[in-house]
Amino acid sequence: MIIQPRVRGFICLTAHPQGALQNVKNQIDYVKSKTEIKKGPQKVLVIGASTGFGLSSRISAAFGSGAATIGVFFEKAPSEGKLATAGWYNTAAFETEAHKAGMYAKSINGDAFSDEVKQQTIDLIKRDLGQVDLVVYSLASPRRTHPKTGIAYASVLKPIEDAFTNKTVDFHTGVVSDISIQPVEKEEEIQNTIAVMGGEDWKFWIEDLKNAGVLAEGVKTVAYSYIGPELTFPIYRNGTIGQAKNDLEATVPILNKLLEDLGGSSYVSVNKALVTQSSSAIPVVPLYISILYKVMKEKGIHEGTIEQMQRLFADRLYAESGQVLLDSKGRIRIDDWEMREDVQQEVAKIWDSISTDNLGQVSDIGGYRRDFFQLFGFEVEGVDYTKETNEVVSIPSITD
Ligand code: NAI
Repeated sequence: MIIQPRVRGFICLTAHPQGALQNVKNQIDYVKSKTEIKKGPQKVLVIGASTGFGLSSRISAAFGSGAATIGVFFEKAPSEGKLATAGWYNTAAFETEAHKAGMYAKSINGDAFSDEVKQQTIDLIKRDLGQVDLVVYSLASPRRTHPKTGIAYASVLKPIEDAFTNKTVDFHTGVVSDISIQPVEKEEEIQNTIAVMGGEDWKFWIEDLKNAGVLAEGVKTVAYSYIGPELTFPIYRNGTIGQAKNDLEATVPILNKLLEDLGGSSYVSVNKALVTQSSSAIPVVPLYISILYKVMKEKGIHEGTIEQMQRLFADRLYAESGQVLLDSKGRIRIDDWEMREDVQQEVAKIWDSISTDNLGQVSDIGGYRRDFFQLFGFEVEGVDYTKETNEVVSIPSITD
C-alpha cells in the first residue's frame, strides 16, 4: 500500500516500514562511526526497546560493543491492509540489521508490567543467554495494571498546587497560545502517576531477574529521568510526573542494596528533552524543545536519542576510566549540555518574546515537526513515499 501520515494531535496513526528501516540504519551508522566501547555490555535486556531512548539504547549496546540483546515492548503487529505501530517496524529493522551483523537479537511483545512477560523474559534469558550484564528500563506509558493487585492506574500530567499558565505551541499549525492547566484535584492522581511511572515496576523486574539467577556478576541497571528548566517545573519536575521521577530516583539505593552481593549497581540517567511519542504529549514542553533545538544546533551541541545513548554508554556507564560520573544526588547527567548556563539563558530570553509571528525565526519548529514525523518513519531522506510498500513486515525473532 501507499502509506501517508495520518495525524491526530500529538499522535500519528500510521507508520512507514521503509522509513523506520532507514531511521534504524542511520542510528546504527552513527554508533559505528564512533570508537568501539571496549568495556561495553555483552548481554543486554532492554525494557521499552522499540522507540525513543530504549531503541537507541539497544542500538548503542549492539553496535557499540557487539552485545546480544533482548528487547521487551508493547506494539501492534501488522496484518494485511493494517499497519503496525512504529515500534514494531523499528524492531523488525533492528533485528534484521543485528542478525545480518551476526548478533543475537530477540524480542518479546507484551505488557512489561505483567508477571507473565517478566517470566517469559526470564525463560528466554535462561535458554539463550544464561545471564544478562545490563538491564535498561525505558518504559513510558500512560497506564499500568498492577501485577499483584490487578488495579489499573492511569497517570496524569498536572501541576500539584496551583494552576499553571504558560505558552504552548500547536506544532502542526505553528500557533503559540497560552494554556492553563488545572492542578490535581485529589492526592490519588499523584499516587496513580507514581504507580505508573515511578520505580516499583523497575524494582519488580530486578527482584524477579535476581531471584531467577539471570543477573551476571557486576550487573548494571539504568532507568531514565528528566529535570529540565524552571519554566517547565510546574508541569514537569514539580508536577505529577516529577513525583514519579522522584520515586524512580529513590529506587536506586534500594536496587543497589539488592545487587550488592552480585557487585552490581543501579543508576538513573537524566536525559535531554527530545521529541518522542511520550514527550509530545506534555503541554508547554514541545515549545521549549523547539527553542532548545535552535539554540543547541547553533552552538553545535544538539543531540538526538542515539547521540545521547551512545554518549551515556561510552562516557558514563562504560567509561574507559571505570568511573561512572554522578551529580551530587547520585544521578548520571547526560542532560549536561541542555542544562549549560549559556544554553538555558538563551532559551529563557527567547521564551519571553516568542509568539506565533516569530516562531519560525526564533525556534526550530521545523526541526521539531520533522523529528515528530520521523518517529513514525515519515520525512526520512532516501525513502520514496510514492512507492507501494508492504505493510506486513515480520520481526524475525518475536515472542508474543
Ligand atoms: P517512548 O514512548 O519513545 O518509548 C516507550 C517504550 O515503552 C516503547 O518501547 C513502548 O513500546 C514501551 N512500552 C510502553 N508501555 C509498555 C508496556 N506496558 N509494556 C511493554 N512496553 C511498553 O518514550 P521515551 O521518551 O523514549 O521514554 C523512555 C524513558 O525516558 C521514560 O522514562 C521517559 O520519562 C524518559 N525520558 C524521556 C525524555 C524525553 O524528552 N523524551 C527526557 C528524559 C527522560
